[in-house]
Amino acid sequence: MNKRIRAVALTLAAALTLGTLAGCGGTSTAEDREIIRIGHNQSTNHPTHIALVAFEEFIESKLGDKYDVEVFPSELLGSQNEMVQLTQTGAINFCVASNSLLETFSQNYTLFNLPYLFASSTAYHASMDDENITGPIFESTKQAGFEAVTWLDAGTRNFYTVNKPIKTPADLRGLKIRVQQSPTNVQMMNLLGGSATPMGFGDVYTALQSKIIDGAENNEMALTDNGHGDVCKYYSYDMHQMIPDILIGNIAFLDALSEEERDIFEEGFELVNQVQREEWVTAVEKAKECAANEQGVQFIYPNTKPFQEACAPMHEAMLEQHPDLAPIYDAIQAYNKQYPSDS
Ligand code: GCU
Repeated sequence: MNKRIRAVALTLAAALTLGTLAGCGGTSTAEDREIIRIGHNQSTNHPTHIALVAFEEFIESKLGDKYDVEVFPSELLGSQNEMVQLTQTGAINFCVASNSLLETFSQNYTLFNLPYLFASSTAYHASMDDENITGPIFESTKQAGFEAVTWLDAGTRNFYTVNKPIKTPADLRGLKIRVQQSPTNVQMMNLLGGSATPMGFGDVYTALQSKIIDGAENNEMALTDNGHGDVCKYYSYDMHQMIPDILIGNIAFLDALSEEERDIFEEGFELVNQVQREEWVTAVEKAKECAANEQGVQFIYPNTKPFQEACAPMHEAMLEQHPDLAPIYDAIQAYNKQYPSDS
């Protein structure tokens, strides 16, 4: 057992023990209630955590005699990859995973990872709210043991670096940039000229600090909530991806719910999406303000066109490899036409 998996196992064992002990002497005995474990990798200040706590309260207000929902933040149950595997096997019930990671479980998810797929946040939100677009993708991992139940906003991904501001793709040459662990992200980085260094989110801060990498790419929250802005002083709005986070649930657990319970859970999933999106807007504004004023991060607004042109071959290659995704790709393009910009 590697150290990390052992830590996950120990955390789970402790959670199980606590769940049992909590029932001693109480009126509603915890041992009568099924514990629903939800893991994610963000802090307790993050919109995702706030939304999951709202889910916990909602489910317990409706089904509290049967279920005890527990939300585990900050990779307490392991890295995202590990949490997806725990959700697959049913060791935990739900977790939040970046869409990036899911492409290794079902290639259909590759679509939402494409750089410059969405023309604006409005087109992105409209696409992700359209079940004709998300449905076939969200259901495609049922065989693998899990299903996507809703999506969460994770803003726009941009490059940020320790020493060198990124103004054109040429500035990335020779730089080691952390990317998420997905073939699409590695390919994107290669096309843009940087050296892709895939690693889990929880390892990025130390890698930046110890200069193992020269930079990373993420939304603004990573600067403040994860402290990356303490080390990286240049954040460049090249806007290369809008990659949603996905709440996934163990399929055996979801299928065992009664029809009435499933309706309540569906309402809860909708609540997660709504609360997270509302919280996201103010959280990003605050993060930007704090990064600029307290961390001294400089925000740069380069011309995005050369970045986009460098990544353009990925769209055609994806469509050639997955012709069945073409109708979904076209539906996204229709939203792009309708909402070419956010202004
Ligand atoms: C964002 C995203 C996470 C993801 C992280 C990453 O923070 O919300 O789900 O893990 O990026 O870059 O790995």
